[in-house]
Amino acid sequence: KKPLIIDCDPGIDDSLALLLALNSPEWDVLGITTVSGNVPATLGAENVLKILKLTDRLDVPVYVGAAQPLQVPYTSAQDTHGDDGLGNSQLPAVTTVAVHDDAVGFLRKTLMAQPDTTVLALGPLTNLAARLQVAPELFAQVNRFVAMGGSYKSHGNCSPVAEYNFWCDPDAAKIVLENTPVPLEMVGLDVTRQIVLTPSLLSYMKRVNPVLGDFIAQITQFYFDFHWQYERVIGCVINDPLAMAFLIDPTLLSGFDSYTTVATTGVARGQAIVDDHDFWHQQANSHILTQVDVLAFWRLFLTRVLKATDP
Ligand code: BDR
Ligand code: CA
Repeated sequence: KKPLIIDCDPGIDDSLALLLALNSPEWDVLGITTVSGNVPATLGAENVLKILKLTDRLDVPVYVGAAQPLQVPYTSAQDTHGDDGLGNSQLPAVTTVAVHDDAVGFLRKTLMAQPDTTVLALGPLTNLAARLQVAPELFAQVNRFVAMGGSYKSHGNCSPVAEYNFWCDPDAAKIVLENTPVPLEMVGLDVTRQIVLTPSLLSYMKRVNPVLGDFIAQITQFYFDFHWQYERVIGCVINDPLAMAFLIDPTLLSGFDSYTTVATTGVARGQAIVDDHDFWHQQANSHILTQVDVLAFWRLFLTRVLKATDP
């Protein structure tokens, strides 16, 4: 089994990514850390427990991380994900298991003990920046470092140019990119925007697996309404599961290596600046994903999470 740490801010689409990870037997989820993003880190940790209970995996430890971005004031995304972060689905709280604090300490200890761990970031990069700033060498041997975040040519989703995870803590995104010893595999809006959960896919999920299909319908209803109200999109874009799917099957996405940094202030706050023409002659610190096999993603998600059998 391949060791994996997931840093996240659940979050409707984070929850779908967790479902995919926890239904992937080749991955050993060592721990799940939370960061303030879609919802405050403490609430995100409560949501992780709800997903762990659903998948009968309450053995996976959960660690609460940074409450605030490094420098800018914190802006949650509860307008998109609901006050509870799970589409106001009012799922019962899990009270039988406690969460731990010190996500950053957990990252340090685990990466020291198991250097070949894969790191999957699904929220603002605050926890990871904290670690990378003091001990970049800890990341030198990580197997892969994949983040859902940023946008290369696909504009933004919370400003004309910025994707939310990079925008929410732009200083952390910049620190991570500028200090990572392994290329950050950037699963940005260029590819995730193509993953639209449509009403017909949702009804198929309910058909193949009524329990999980209903659960997914319950948490995504709010997201559907949001997309219709603001973008006249029928269905909802789910970003985070694509990053997990990419870990499982690296052929799902393709792209190119580049030096990338992030704007931290002004109108460009949170914009990923990808030096795709190598103007700056810097060593590549990122792998920018631009192409996605959408059907293959859905096949994987349906097979693993909904246990849909091959026809
Ligand atoms: C990202 O921001 C969050 O709202 C989602 O969970 C995803 O990680 C998309 O921009
Ligand atoms: Ca997220």
